[in-house]
Amino acid sequence: MSSLANDLSLLSESSRRYFGAPHRHFIGGQFVDSISQEEIPVIDPTSGELVARVPAGGAGDIDRAVRAARKAFDTGPWTRMTGPQRERIMLRLADLLEANATEMSEIESVNSGRTLLSTKAFDVDLSVDYLRYMAGWATKIHGQTLNPSVPYVPGGKFFAMTVREPVGVVGAITPWNVPLGQAIWKIAPALAAGCTIVLKPAEQTPLTALRFAQLVAEAGVPEGVVNVVTGYGESAGAALVAHPGVDKISFTGSTQVGRLIGEAAARQMKRVTLELGGKSPMVVMGDADLDVAIPGAAMGIFANHGQNCCAGSRLFVHSSIYERVIDGIARIARTLKLGPALSPDTQMGPLISKAQQERVIGYIRSGVTDGAKVIVGGKALPGPGAYVEPTILTEVGPAMKCVREEIFGPVLAATRFDEVGEVISRANDTTFGLGASVWTESLNTAHWFVRQFKSGTVWINTHGVLDLAVPFGGIKQSGMGHELGEEAVNHHTNLKSVLASLKDPS
Ligand code: NAI
Ligand code: MG
Repeated sequence: MSSLANDLSLLSESSRRYFGAPHRHFIGGQFVDSISQEEIPVIDPTSGELVARVPAGGAGDIDRAVRAARKAFDTGPWTRMTGPQRERIMLRLADLLEANATEMSEIESVNSGRTLLSTKAFDVDLSVDYLRYMAGWATKIHGQTLNPSVPYVPGGKFFAMTVREPVGVVGAITPWNVPLGQAIWKIAPALAAGCTIVLKPAEQTPLTALRFAQLVAEAGVPEGVVNVVTGYGESAGAALVAHPGVDKISFTGSTQVGRLIGEAAARQMKRVTLELGGKSPMVVMGDADLDVAIPGAAMGIFANHGQNCCAGSRLFVHSSIYERVIDGIARIARTLKLGPALSPDTQMGPLISKAQQERVIGYIRSGVTDGAKVIVGGKALPGPGAYVEPTILTEVGPAMKCVREEIFGPVLAATRFDEVGEVISRANDTTFGLGASVWTESLNTAHWFVRQFKSGTVWINTHGVLDLAVPFGGIKQSGMGHELGEEAVNHHTNLKSVLASLKDPS
């Protein structure tokens, strides 16, 4: 085993045991055998070694899970509980996740290749906070009262109100870049709203979702409220989307699959939230504080190995500071320590898989063929791990594939600009619209960019920061709907309008 592979003896006893345990779907409050006999090999991307097997569930398993969720929604206690009752159970779930933080983080790091620091922060701690934040919403879901005039009923007296009701059974499909974090982003608002859920985690990273299902049972979440079926997208994922018992699909992943899901959901008029890809611009103005902008932009692209939907993958730097900024980011890229997730000195692990490594290297190659210059990185590390060096491409043109398409790896495409009118049209020249950032010391400039960027989120002097309370969603090909914040709760409700005709007591 090379030093680029995880040393699994560093794991806690409980994590090691978990990898070896038999893994089954979680349906109706129990772990059950798969109807489908197939299995998915779960790989440690630092070594390419098999660490576990999970069932490759199919349409039969999905049907069983949807029926359980349907029954729990239509006749079970969850939807009928008071807000405080749901809140208490969700808080218990948060406590259990917190108590199992080390094991969760270790499992996620081995499976997804990300450092313990990263999985602890983004898959565990943020999820604990999000469960608690959403537990609070369980008691705060509300409609409005309205004072209708109904002008065509002379002398009529009317009262109106809106109420928010849970949308029903939610089918959630999540990606591999922040596996547990993404699962909790789907589960927590669904629970707060009184929905039930069937989760299909990414085939590459199914383990923490199944481990979390154990906590769901332990916390006293009623049976059938949360179900987890592991499987491939084309089989289990597609079956979940097509199932008539599902009322809403919540999906995070590629734009290509998002489009398929949107089309399929539309046929049944299912509610749908799509959190898709991006090619987010970062604009560094001539007046930016470079002590902030240089490390900020470096993390904007290299955080999570570039495997972030809102990664700042296109950099525009004002000509007056272009060399300094590029040199600064290149210096950071060169010093980032690549290595296995479990090693304490690792700053960047491998990508999720050999397939993703090839895909990312393919984009770098296509950039070079199109005339881009690699000023740092550009290569895969030799060996069985899925490592790719942090990479900066310069001399890139707007028509190049590496500039137009989401790479989902540590690859920055950098260019210079001279004036704001030019840079904003180049920044907005993308089919995506997830995030965008500007680095400037001028309040006026910052707010001009806020209005001009065509994106769901704008960051000022930072990039990629997400918060529990701040809605996150894309425009254009980056998706529809929002996660996080009150918006996420509302997306799990149907708005019902009530009109009453009143008369004075006789
Ligand atoms: P993907 O979009 O195929 O996978 C995401 C999830 O969708 C997984 O759970 C998968 O099983 C499921 N899925 C796949 N096909 C499906 C179908 N036909 N019906 C229902 N569910 C389906 O992403 P993939 O192939 O893993 O990665 C390819 C590229 O997608 C990445 O390089 C990246 O550019 C982009 N991506 C973007 C993400 C984001 O957060 N914006 C997350 C993951 C991937
Ligand atoms: Mg795919």
